[in-house]
Amino acid sequence: MWRDRGGVSFQVRMAEPRDAGVLVDLLNEVGREEIYIADDGAQFTVEQQARIIHGANPLWQCILVAEQAGQVVGSLEMVRGTLKKNQHTATFGMALFPHARGRQIGRGLVLTAEDWARRVGVEKISLAVFATNVAAIALYQSLGYQEEGRRRRQYRIRDQWVDEIWMARWL
Ligand SMILES: CC(C)(COP(=O)(O)OP(=O)(O)OC[C@H]1O[C@@H](n2cnc3c(N)ncnc32)[C@H](O)[C@@H]1OP(=O)(O)O)[C@@H](O)C(=O)NCCC(=O)NCCS
Repeated sequence: MWRDRGGVSFQVRMAEPRDAGVLVDLLNEVGREEIYIADDGAQFTVEQQARIIHGANPLWQCILVAEQAGQVVGSLEMVRGTLKKNQHTATFGMALFPHARGRQIGRGLVLTAEDWARRVGVEKISLAVFATNVAAIALYQSLGYQEEGRRRRQYRIRDQWVDEIWMARWL
């Protein structure tokens, strides 16, 4: 059990197939906001998402949800490299519903995913973030992630060029 910035408890747990609907809603909502994630919305239907959660191999993939007052407020998905040459690495993406942001719930999700990564033998975690996403970058930096590289003008969002920053942390 975790506590958010205001002292309100929240839980981080592995996603279950019953969470599929809210995860699709979350990706659609954050995708519509345009400025935070590359996807325009959910890639999968609720049924497909439920099957993905059901079939996820816990040695290779970790799909987490943060739940507060019985509601899923955010999610993080971490995937480990599948090749012998990169299975020491993992990457992740995450998002919270707007009302849940800025309360250190994201921090709880990342720390829980790092625990999973350590348990399965991952040594290095990386992620990609828009250079304009100050909240996400501040969160990752506060947890020890450092910039490894930058793809310049990798995206065009609302008529602005946006660099993509790759960040990483060794566990
Ligand atoms: C990015 C995101 C996951 C961060 O989760 P969060 O719970 O809001 O972040 P936290 O409250 O844990 O913040 C951690 C740190 O980030 C910084 N931060 C958070 N919001 C910020 C903001 N709006 N502006 C500047 N810094 C901010 C603070 O330094 C904070 O540190 P502190 O707790 O010591 O004050 C969340 O804001 C979100 O879902 N955003 C939209 C989707 C997204 O951007 N996903 C990531 C794509 S790479």
